[in-house]
Amino acid sequence: KRHLVSAADLSRDDALLILDTAEELAQLSGRAVKKLPTLRGRTVVNLFFEDSTRTKTSFEVAEKRLSADVINFSAKGSSVSKGESLKDTALTLQAMGADAVVIRHHASGAPARLADSDWLHGSVINAGDGTHEHPTQALLDAFTMRRHLNPGAGRDLAGRKVAIVGDILHSRVARSNVHLLTTLGAEVTFVAPPTLLPIGIETWPCQVSYDLDAVLPKVDAVMMLRVQRERMNAAFFPTEREYSRRYGLNGLRLATMPEHAIVMHPGPMVRGMEITADVADSPRCTVVEQVANGVSVRMAVLYLLLGGAVFADGSADSART
Ligand code: CP
Repeated sequence: KRHLVSAADLSRDDALLILDTAEELAQLSGRAVKKLPTLRGRTVVNLFFEDSTRTKTSFEVAEKRLSADVINFSAKGSSVSKGESLKDTALTLQAMGADAVVIRHHASGAPARLADSDWLHGSVINAGDGTHEHPTQALLDAFTMRRHLNPGAGRDLAGRKVAIVGDILHSRVARSNVHLLTTLGAEVTFVAPPTLLPIGIETWPCQVSYDLDAVLPKVDAVMMLRVQRERMNAAFFPTEREYSRRYGLNGLRLATMPEHAIVMHPGPMVRGMEITADVADSPRCTVVEQVANGVSVRMAVLYLLLGGAVFADGSADSART
């Protein structure tokens, strides 16, 4: 069985293979090859216990472009609301012949539990678990950085400086990114108020700063994060005005960044809080591009996990592992 549960499990070669494959698949889409037969006859289940706009939609588009049979399952409206367990849900999906399960769950560790179980025989792909990891988000972020910061050159991100700003404490995106970016040679700085940093941050492979203005002039990319009210006790929620004054990205701060540096955001954005509308809409902000790149990256992950080969002429086989 092959799974993608954590960006920390990816070696440099694994990550580069996924990014290079995603680039080839993106080129095929650019040449109007909209659909490949690679996963014809394979069933992929999108098992979402938490809300999603981008991840769920882009996995579905990726699966359909690879000709998979797609089953969309969301906890709302399912027997999960009647108390059915993850195990019984998984056994039910296995009985329907799932070759892969893409899972988003509010509990950190749920995808690892599925991957380690014998409830499912297919591949498990983590689409975001609690505050733990979101590996395909980190891959699409690295793909986006590589396109902007290494055009036509290096395959990795060696020496690139990336600041990740905001609610690190609750962010699975920050966790996956710090693993993947450091594997690819980038230098990561977390910028956040002390209350939004996890205990033990000093053991992570990154720098920490409380001063956004000091960090911005040195970055190649800045990644703004949403403050996740839904995972926070209201008593700890920072006031919007104070937060955006110290940690929000506005036009004045954008002007202090190097000209080549890009502004990223995994979405959903809260305009006026972590990012102002003029910055979100500026040509230097890659948020929409990140969504488009997510389709190519998720196609690559599905293709590599479920098997199949794409040939130089754009045709593909449907070999099974
Ligand atoms: N970036 C991200 O995971 O967005 P969604 O929650 O909309 O999937």
